[in-house]
Amino acid sequence: MSSALSLRRLLPGEKVDFECIDADLTEFFREDCLNYLSERLAVTYVLEFQGEAIAMFSLSNDRLDIHDFEDNHKLLKKAAGAIPHAKRGLRSFPAVKIGRLAVKKGLERGGHRIGSSVVVFIQAFLMLKNKTGCRFLTVDSYPGAVEFYRKAGFKKVEKATGQEIQTCPHCKEALPLDSKAPPLDDNVLMFLDLVLMTDSKIIDEFSPIVDSLLQMNVAEFPEPPESAFREKSAFPA
Ligand SMILES: CC(C)(COP(=O)(O)OP(=O)(O)OC[C@H]1O[C@@H](n2cnc3c(N)ncnc32)[C@H](O)[C@@H]1OP(=O)(O)O)[C@@H](O)C(=O)NCCC(=O)NCCS
Repeated sequence: MSSALSLRRLLPGEKVDFECIDADLTEFFREDCLNYLSERLAVTYVLEFQGEAIAMFSLSNDRLDIHDFEDNHKLLKKAAGAIPHAKRGLRSFPAVKIGRLAVKKGLERGGHRIGSSVVVFIQAFLMLKNKTGCRFLTVDSYPGAVEFYRKAGFKKVEKATGQEIQTCPHCKEALPLDSKAPPLDDNVLMFLDLVLMTDSKIIDEFSPIVDSLLQMNVAEFPEPPESAFREKSAFPA
């Protein structure tokens, strides 16, 4: 691994000096991501070059339901059909969501290809290092970033009506389509089928950044200290 480049998981209470072109994302990565970590809603990673944060992203567990895919039904049916002796009524598929992703202000779209390298790295990480099943990578894309994710191989999740699923801006959960509530934001739910990324494709297409990141043993990221475990939860016992 290049010594100048490192990727690490944010530790509880750790603040990172990071700014991107989006004020909400900057605030999330400076402050809110710590609450997401302590509440076990998302884990945030920071990519550093010579000790300076150049990109940050957060990941959460997710799932895609077969009913999310009226337009893409064939794809999901094929996915379910490819599994011999699948449990009857296989209706949902494990996924990991990119909750947030941002590149340092001044480095975005500058030919460095940091964002796309991070996305490829996440795919490779989920395929090669993941300890649980994960079929899809998902994202609630800002409308202005849809083209970026499309170029990275993501497709929009659309219902048969053609209506895109609305997501709550706070919890990022998909809102039911028949919800009477007005749309709260216009993020676009997108997905990428990890099975489409074969090992050889990973090796062929890795940029130098991803290549060096993959040599890291991500499994050796420091674990949260004991103090991160709590005795109480808001949920009833
Ligand atoms: C979106 C973001 C993460 C992309 O990272 P990046 O390092 O700028 O992207 P890359 O340089 O790897 O771009 C890869 C390709 O996507 C294109 N692209 C990047 N951002 C784009 C955008 N917002 N709209 C359209 N195309 C975009 C690039 O032009 C490039 O195209 P090419 O392959 O034809 O040359 C970064 O621009 C960013 O931090 N934006 C602000 C925060 C944000 O919108 N985050 C997404 C939240 S869901």
